[in-house]
Amino acid sequence: MAHAGTLEIRQLSKQYRVKGSTLPVLDNISLSIRPGEFISIVGSSGCGKSTLLRLVIGLENEYQGEILLDGKRIVGTSLERGIVFQEHRLFPWLTVAQNVSLGLLNAGLPEAAKARSVQEHIELVGLKGFESAYPYQLSGGMSQRVAIARALVNRPEVLLLDEPFGALDALTRNHLQQELQRIWEQEGITAILVTHDVDEAVYLGDRVVIMEPRPGRIKRIVDVDLPRPRDRGSFAFAGIKDDVLAEFSDQPPARLVQPAPPSGFADWQFSW
Ligand SMILES: Nc1ncnc2c1ncn2[C@@H]1O[C@H](COP(=O)(O)OP(=O)(O)OP(=O)(O)O)[C@@H](O)[C@H]1O
Ligand SMILES: [Mg+2]
Repeated sequence: MAHAGTLEIRQLSKQYRVKGSTLPVLDNISLSIRPGEFISIVGSSGCGKSTLLRLVIGLENEYQGEILLDGKRIVGTSLERGIVFQEHRLFPWLTVAQNVSLGLLNAGLPEAAKARSVQEHIELVGLKGFESAYPYQLSGGMSQRVAIARALVNRPEVLLLDEPFGALDALTRNHLQQELQRIWEQEGITAILVTHDVDEAVYLGDRVVIMEPRPGRIKRIVDVDLPRPRDRGSFAFAGIKDDVLAEFSDQPPARLVQPAPPSGFADWQFSW
C-alpha cells in the first residue's frame, strides 16, 4: 500500500496575465487534506478547479501562498503525485502496457520491477488480458482505466482527477465511480476529484468543496458523513446532494422532510 500524503494548501492565490491585464483566478484558498482523505471539488465552469489541480501537481509554479505535501513545499512535478484528465491522453501507437509504463519513465526502477508494477496496476484497474491492446481497441471507460493505472503506477501519495468520467455514459460512469472507490481504498491514497457531477462528488467524497467564481474561492465545504459504499437511493444521500446543489441556486434550499408513516399504518397498508 502506498503512503498517503497530507496536503496543506494555505492562502493560495493565482493570477494570469491576459493581454496586459491581470486576471485573478484563485483567491485565498486554504484547505487541509488528511492522509487518505477523498476530497471532491465542484464549482461552475471557469472558477479555477483545473488551475488548482495544476498547481498541486506542480505544472505551474507562479502563485502566492503555500502548497505543502507532508510539510514540504511542492516544486515541479513529481512521482509523489499522479493525475488523470478528462480525456485519457493515451498515446495511440503504444499498447496498454506501454502507456502505463510511461508513468514509470523517471522512476529509476530495474526493468523487472517496472514490468511487475505495470502488470499489478493493469490488474488493479480490471484490465487483465488487455496488456497488448492499442487505445483504438478500447472503449472510453477502458481508456480511462488505463489513464488511472498510469497515474497510480508510481505509487503516488496523492491522486488528482480532473473530471475523469465527464465524457462517459451514465452507466459506465457509475461503474467507474465504484471502481475508483475500490482502488482508492485498496491503495490508501489521498485523492482530489474535480467534477461537475454533484452525485459523483457526494458518492465519492469525504468532503465536498464547493467553489465560486471570479475569482475562484471556496464557498463552502460539506461533510459527507455516510458509510461506504454509499446508497444513492437513500434519504441521507439525497439530503446531502440537495444541500450541495442549493449552493448553485439563488433559491433557499427546499427542506427535504422524511414523510411520516400515515397513522393507522397497518390498516392503511392492508386496506386494498
Ligand atoms: N494559461 C492560462 N492563461 C490565461 N488564463 C487562463 C489560463 N488557464 C486558465 N485560465 C483562466 O482561468 C480561469 C479558470 O480556469 P480553469 O480551467 O481553472 O477553470 P475550471 O474551473 O477548471 O473550469 P471548467 O469547469 O470549465 O473546466 C478561467 O477564466 C480561464 O480562462
Ligand atoms: Mg477544468
